[in-house]
Amino acid sequence: MNHKTKSLIFKSLDVLPNSLGYGIYHQLQKFLNRNSVNFKIKTNDRSFKEALQILKKQDIDLTDKTILELGSGWAPIIPYFFTHFANAARVVTYDINEHYDAKTIDKLNAFYKENYQIEINATQGKYRLPKNITYYPKTNLADKSIKLNEQVDLVFSRFVLEHIPTEDLLKIHQSFAKILPKSAYILHMISPSDHRAYTDKSLSYYDFLKYSKAEWKKQHTKFDYHNRLRLPDYINIFKEAGYEIVSLDYDTCEKDSEKYQKFKELTLHKDYESYTEEELLAGSINVLLKLA
Ligand SMILES: C[S@@+](CC[C@H](N)C(=O)[O-])C[C@H]1O[C@@H](n2cnc3c(N)ncnc32)[C@H](O)[C@@H]1O
Repeated sequence: MNHKTKSLIFKSLDVLPNSLGYGIYHQLQKFLNRNSVNFKIKTNDRSFKEALQILKKQDIDLTDKTILELGSGWAPIIPYFFTHFANAARVVTYDINEHYDAKTIDKLNAFYKENYQIEINATQGKYRLPKNITYYPKTNLADKSIKLNEQVDLVFSRFVLEHIPTEDLLKIHQSFAKILPKSAYILHMISPSDHRAYTDKSLSYYDFLKYSKAEWKKQHTKFDYHNRLRLPDYINIFKEAGYEIVSLDYDTCEKDSEKYQKFKELTLHKDYESYTEEELLAGSINVLLKLA
């Protein structure tokens, strides 16, 4: 689905009463996700392997550890990877929404049986999750009163932070600084590019940097919210919450690439003029944090 159609659907849903808008949004997403489970497993697998490399470089072993996933998405793809292929003892997964879908999870279980000969012993609750995976939907970790039910060794997020407003990002990390043990690590995989460019090849991956805050607000909705934060903004938030950067890597684009040419054709909004080109271009950010 191209971004214009998607955007039109999201804008139409946005004017409906909240519960009705979200209800239709969920049905639509469930339908789309059920039909793209295998693709999602493949792309998550790439991220998972990248994450393991980053952790290995710091001699971080996940055997018998507990992982907190921030932003569960539509199925426990990442929790299954960590518990089956990194020896993690358990994964607790938090989401501000409740996107999990039993049929998508059935497809994930079938994939494990067919491709890895692993029978998922799925028993628990509404989504029949394995015992070592706990889902906490409709939970905002920015909430000051939040308490964890277990000791967490690693926080992991994939393609989530760019969808969280700045104020909440700071609150979430301040909350982590309070509720996690000092030894815990946090690994975030962030996609700071304009997501509309994934489905519309005519758009630059930096297109949204031409808009003022007010203009951008009109372009997106609560269903496709993107904070447009750039690399230094994230670093400042993490540092303000008391974290130090253990490792950092990100993509940039070659000067002779089409991606760079499209970026150069943009007239950046003045809000972005103070950033260096490298800071603006930084994509696929992987950052590992620890309390300073
Ligand atoms: C783009 S999806 C990514 C899902 C999954 N991590 C993946 O890689 O497929 C972003 C997810 O983050 C969740 N999310 C957004 N804001 C959040 C917040 N403040 N706290 C927890 N989850 C949040 C959304 O509900 C959604 O499930």
